Amino acid sequence: MKKTSRFFRLALLASATALMVPLASAQATGKLKVGLMLPYTGTYAALGTAIENGFKLYIDEHGGKLGGREVEYIKVDDESNPAKATDNVNKLIKRDNVDVVVGTVHSGVVMAMAKVANDTNTLLIVPNAGANAVTGPLCSNNIYRSSFSNWQPAYAMGEAAAKKGYKKAVTITWKYGAGEESVGGFKESFEKGGGKVVKELSLPFPNVEFQALLTEIAAMKPDVVYTFFAGGGAVKFVKDYAAAGLKGKIPLIGAGFLTDGTLDAQGADASGLQTALHYADSLNTKRDNDFRLAYAKAFKLQPDVYAVQGYDAGQILGAGLAAVKGDVSKKAEFAAAVERAKFDSPRGMFTLSKAHNPVQDFYLRQVSGVENKSIGLASKALADPARGCKL
Ligand code: BEZ
Repeated sequence: MKKTSRFFRLALLASATALMVPLASAQATGKLKVGLMLPYTGTYAALGTAIENGFKLYIDEHGGKLGGREVEYIKVDDESNPAKATDNVNKLIKRDNVDVVVGTVHSGVVMAMAKVANDTNTLLIVPNAGANAVTGPLCSNNIYRSSFSNWQPAYAMGEAAAKKGYKKAVTITWKYGAGEESVGGFKESFEKGGGKVVKELSLPFPNVEFQALLTEIAAMKPDVVYTFFAGGGAVKFVKDYAAAGLKGKIPLIGAGFLTDGTLDAQGADASGLQTALHYADSLNTKRDNDFRLAYAKAFKLQPDVYAVQGYDAGQILGAGLAAVKGDVSKKAEFAAAVERAKFDSPRGMFTLSKAHNPVQDFYLRQVSGVENKSIGLASKALADPARGCKL
C-alpha cells in the first residue's frame, strides 16, 4: 500500500514536470486568411490599389507564404467611409474569420478598425492611415503600423519651413482626423521654430471646391501655405492653386502626400513644390532600385509611398509570424519579435517604436518632372511622441 502510493506520487510529479517543460512551439497549419480592408473607390482608390500591390509583391517574393502558411486574401472596399467601417471590419473578423486585417488609408476608418481589433483581440497591420491615436491611446499588441503617424511628416515639414525663415503661414486641408492632426504637427514645430500659423482653412472630406478658400489665401498673402491633401483631391488642389495664379507667388508646401502618386496627373502645376515624407523617388539605393524594378515588372506601374507601405506591412507581418511559426494567437511573442526587428525598406532602414509606429527618416523633397527628388533630410529618425500609449 505504502509502496503504491509512493509510486503514484512519483508518477504525478513526473507528469507535472513534463507539463512544465516548454515544448518546442509547433508550426501552425492551414491557410493564413488576410483581410484586406482598403479603399478601392473614391478619392483614395489609387492609394488602396498601390498598398495591395506592394503587400502582394512581398508575399509573392516569399513564395506566397508567411510564417510557414499559405496566404489567402479576402477583400473589402471600405470606400473611405467611417460610417461603414465597424460593419466592414466585423464582417472580415466574424463572418470570414480572418487571421489578420491589413488596412486602411483613411484615418476616420482606421479608428473604428483599431477599436474592433482591440475588442476582438485581432491582429491589425495599418499600411497608411496616420491617425495619431492608433499608436497613441489605442496602441496594443494587436496593432502595428508600417506607414507614419499624421504628426510625423507634418512636424518634419514645420521644422524645415521654420528653418527656411517663413514667418506667417496659412494652412488648408480637409476637415477630418488626418487633416487636423497634420496641421497640428506642422503648427507645433513651425511655431517652436519662430513662425506663426495665422489662419487654418478647411473644407469637408472629400470636397474639392477650393475656389473660395484660394481667394481668401490670395487676400491674406502669407509667406507660405501648408497643406494636407492626398489622392484625387491633391491632384485637383495643386491644379486649382496654379489656376488661381498663386503658384510662384505664395510657396505651397505640405506633407508629401500632396505630390505622391499624383505627378502624372498634376503635370507642370506641381513643378518645384517642396514636401516632407518618409519616401522619395530616385533614392538610388540597391534596395529601392530592386523594389522599383520588381514592382514595375509585376504591375506595369511606378511605385509610390503607398506601395512601399504595403510592402512593409508584409515585412512586419512576416517578421512577427516567423517568430510564432504562423500562430497569430501568440501576441506577446509576435510583438517582441517585431519590436527588435530592423526593417530593410525601400524607404531606408526603420524600426518600430514600443507603440508600434515606424521610427524613420523624413526626406525634404522637391518635384522635378514626374519625380519627388530628395533634396536632403528634413528630420532624422523621427519618432512619433506616442502620446497616451500605455505599452
Ligand atoms: C489618412 O487619412 O490618414 C491619410 C489619407 C491619405 C494619405 C495620408 C493619410
